[in-house]
Amino acid sequence: MNYTTLNDATLKQKEMRTKMKNILFIQSSPRGSESYSQKVARSIVSDLEERYPGAKVVVRDLAQNPPPHVGEAFVGGLSTGSEQRTPEQTKALALSDVLIDELLAADVIVLAVPMHNFGPPSTLKAWIDHVVRIGRTVSYSQKGPEGMLKGKRAILVLARGGVYSDGPAKPMDFQEPYLRTVLGFIGITDIDVVPVEGLARSAIGPEKAVASAMARSREILSQAV
Ligand SMILES: Cc1cc2nc3c(=O)[nH]c(=O)nc-3n(C[C@H](O)[C@H](O)[C@H](O)COP(=O)(O)O)c2cc1C
Repeated sequence: MNYTTLNDATLKQKEMRTKMKNILFIQSSPRGSESYSQKVARSIVSDLEERYPGAKVVVRDLAQNPPPHVGEAFVGGLSTGSEQRTPEQTKALALSDVLIDELLAADVIVLAVPMHNFGPPSTLKAWIDHVVRIGRTVSYSQKGPEGMLKGKRAILVLARGGVYSDGPAKPMDFQEPYLRTVLGFIGITDIDVVPVEGLARSAIGPEKAVASAMARSREILSQAV
């Protein structure tokens, strides 16, 4: 194929192939290997590894190692310069720094997210509270807030017992809109969503739901990633 005939998607794919090095795989289901979000997300990560040989994958399992809820020392530390922080405040922010460094290093972030009571699980919310930080992932100026994590790609694998992408339950979906909003707030706006929905046997059932999520994953990955 002549270089000048390559379309934008192919060009983007070529560019990513040479540039992409780091994949951050965030798991948040407490169901381990039984988890549907994890199963579909794992296949996406494997596919990415095949496409980009040499890519480094960092796995952060929030169900096995949940970040703590943010407490007094954490919040106090946020508004205190690093030199002035108490040892307790420094300790409270240490994990936040580690989690932010993982995000900064990632080119693609794959999030496996079960729906728990219409939103993401509380462990993922705790992770979000650790990574949304003024001066590290979001900056404020007279123009207002601006996300600092530019040029990253996120793939959200969202597992639900019911169907929320369309139909009567759509207004009850606080998982996808929330994640899009908060990731956008820190600058991650290039987001693809793979719903694994209707998992309950009374809805679509796991076999069909997973098959259609796998098909959606292949569609996404065949485009520029
Ligand atoms: C605590 C809890 C709350 C749940 N809340 C919802 C819900 O609000 N809506 C829904 O459709 N499914 C809900 N489910 C079902 C899960 O979304 C479903 O089991 C899905 O498979 C979880 O993803 P996983 O397999 O990756 O763990 C809930 C499950 C649990 C354990």
